[in-house]
Amino acid sequence: MSKFVITGGAKLSGEIEVRGTKNFALKIIPASLLSKEKMIVSNMPEIEDTKRSLELLSSLGSKISKDSDKYIIDNSEVKETTLSSDIAKKFRASVMFVAPLLARFGEVKFPHPGGCVIGAGSRPIDLFLEGYQALGAKVSHKDGHYIIKADKLKGCEYFFTTVSVTATESLLMAASLASGTTVLKNCAMEPEIEELAVYLNRNGAKIEGAGTPIIKIEGVKEIGAGDIEIMPDRIETGTFAIMAAATNSELLIKNCRPENVQILLEIFKKIGINFEAGEFSILIKKTEKFTSYNIKTHEYPGFPTDLQSPYTMLMTQAHGSALIHETIYDRRLLFSDLLAQMGANIIMCDPHRIVVNGPTKLQGKELTSPDLRAGITMILAGLIAEGKTTIDNIYQIDRGYEQIDSRLRSIGAKIERVTD
Ligand code: EPU
Repeated sequence: MSKFVITGGAKLSGEIEVRGTKNFALKIIPASLLSKEKMIVSNMPEIEDTKRSLELLSSLGSKISKDSDKYIIDNSEVKETTLSSDIAKKFRASVMFVAPLLARFGEVKFPHPGGCVIGAGSRPIDLFLEGYQALGAKVSHKDGHYIIKADKLKGCEYFFTTVSVTATESLLMAASLASGTTVLKNCAMEPEIEELAVYLNRNGAKIEGAGTPIIKIEGVKEIGAGDIEIMPDRIETGTFAIMAAATNSELLIKNCRPENVQILLEIFKKIGINFEAGEFSILIKKTEKFTSYNIKTHEYPGFPTDLQSPYTMLMTQAHGSALIHETIYDRRLLFSDLLAQMGANIIMCDPHRIVVNGPTKLQGKELTSPDLRAGITMILAGLIAEGKTTIDNIYQIDRGYEQIDSRLRSIGAKIERVTD
């Protein structure tokens, strides 16, 4: 078992590059199944979740090779349509394999996907199933597996009663190979959805409106494949910006798209955190004092739930009180108890709302990372705490942040990976 051991108080400086985004890589890997042609992927984040996704793809018969830093995915001989339970239950994004398999082969069998424990019970997939049914598929459940079949998917109109990123992306992929026109309404608008549509359109799909609430898809007979560079991770971008501000450091964040974290930068302006945003970089400047600001998580372009926990940590260092309202997931504020154990002044109003009173000094502690985003937040808290912070269950952090320890060391952080 490995742990991170962090000695707090070090000033950070220099520059750090943002890696490719997990939440696009986890869609583009299964999207390769839509085609018999080869996909060539660059800027793939080397993280545990993409390793699981490539493992799952390979278990279906895909041939995956590497040419320097490019992954070459060849699905011409894939015939298997049952997802391995052992792999699929390890990560939520295994659900992204369902639509492309169904669309290309007419059937798919899979277990309920696993993943972070941040939603109520096991995170639901009702919208996906309802959407496939609207496209004419038959859904059944036997021996712990869902079985979905359709000789040919047929275009339909479908309205999402809850806005969902992965369900939007799944129906968009399924409809791309259906016959006729599909109109999806109340879609999620995250930049990764638009990026997926741009890639598919470049290879023969006919998708209009991705990145807006209404997406229209004209089904095509075949989709090709080609080169794709994974876009920079906007959550990693925001996390690094928060880290620099919380540690009162000057840090250049390179290889990012500042427009994709606009809401965080707008809040920085309001609370007095100094920065300069370029086209592909953000320079965070030293800021001695900044004030609190309330947030409410929301679908894009609102405040991302995936940045809520680092932002909560930032508010422990701000002057004033901030109300943090988590609207997307039921269990995503529970980590705040770990910040309270480190000395933060946090009042839980109800499972969806906390008040953070700042600024407070944090003390190093022995902690367990509960999930990916809470885990990175524990690292950030450790960087500003007095003394030593030890974090175990760091698989949860390695799932989404590539070599975070060595990258943070390169900008001055005192963080070690210790294996028992
Ligand atoms: N929901 C349903 N039914 C469904 C699907 C979703 O009720 O069939 C609900 C969820 O329970 C939740 C809400 O819809 O309350 C939104 O969830 P969504 O489906 O949008 O989440 P997701 O697509 O499973 C993606 C990211 C998450 C990110 C959310 C919100 C991927 C692989 N995951 O999840 O990322 O938090 O969108 O932006 O793209 C993370 O990276 O740490 C992470 C959890």
